[in-house]
Amino acid sequence: MKNLTNQIALITGANVGIGQVTAMTLAQRGARVFLAGRSQARTQAVVDAIIAATGRADAAHWLPLDLADLHSVRACAQTFLGMNLPLHLLINNAGLAGAKGVTAQGFEMAFGVNHLGHFELTQRLLDRIKASGPARIVTVASRAHRMAVNGIDWAALRKPTQSWTGVNEYAVSKLANILFSAELSRQLVGTEVSTYALHPGVVDTEVWRELPSFLRPLLRLRGLLTPEQGAQTSLYCATEAPAQESGLYYANRKVQTPTALAQDPALAKRLWEFSLSVTANEKAAL
Ligand SMILES: NC(=O)c1ccc[n+]([C@@H]2O[C@H](COP(=O)([O-])OP(=O)(O)OC[C@H]3O[C@@H](n4cnc5c(N)ncnc54)[C@H](OP(=O)(O)O)[C@@H]3O)[C@@H](O)[C@H]2O)c1
Repeated sequence: MKNLTNQIALITGANVGIGQVTAMTLAQRGARVFLAGRSQARTQAVVDAIIAATGRADAAHWLPLDLADLHSVRACAQTFLGMNLPLHLLINNAGLAGAKGVTAQGFEMAFGVNHLGHFELTQRLLDRIKASGPARIVTVASRAHRMAVNGIDWAALRKPTQSWTGVNEYAVSKLANILFSAELSRQLVGTEVSTYALHPGVVDTEVWRELPSFLRPLLRLRGLLTPEQGAQTSLYCATEAPAQESGLYYANRKVQTPTALAQDPALAKRLWEFSLSVTANEKAAL
């Protein structure tokens, strides 16, 4: 992987799992990493481990971020922008599966955290990212988007999670991740910013903790990757994937074809406009 000295990265959900390995690896290659997450207590050990592993006191920092609350998302972006640093890599990694309910502003939980919080964070940081080009925005999606066979039920996005397992909603949120990354790349034509969405593999992390217990052994049947293995495609997209492959979907460090719905530019545009309008409405109230 290329040397990342003087590069600055912001990674969501980097206290555990795929995000933790991603943050550590980028820092070991020279980047300064900001780990954005809900709990300093749960992140500090990772920050300390990165500083110890790199021998650089400024190699890692925690940034408060709760993606289930747009106030918190906005505050996180403001804190970062207030440091007057460039941003070369934004890695929208955090995610949950099987959690139910609504976010602070009343959006379905998986959609609100996995897509809408990241949409707002990206929007708030976008001018800084553009000014820092060449830069990349990597969004960790999932092969689970294939289960969103009926597309997006727009009314359901404003209601508590309906399905018993939360898997349907997770699938829609991951479809939204891919559509978002593709539409973002179209909006960034002519800039030095490229975007990537990816499936990390089926990885042995805590993401499955909220699923009904009978479903968890099914995941193990096909064999789980370690978090180190699961971070490889994120790292590839963050550092090596060609800039001209912007907007595409990756797995196993290669471009893959997502479902037809995930490639539908009209659906991506509609999602973009929906996300922009609901976050703008919320902004008025913030
Ligand atoms: N593991 C897999 O097999 C798999 C497969 C396909 C896609 N993915 C995707 O990979 C990404 C990383 O997941 P992982 O497998 O590494 O899972 P993980 O170990 O559970 O990590 C998820 C991270 O997201 C954070 N997070 C959850 N809700 C949040 C919120 N409201 N605000 C801020 N951060 C929040 C968690 O923080 P807390 O510690 O505070 O909860 C944690 O740091 C996710 O987007 C997931 O959908 C994973």
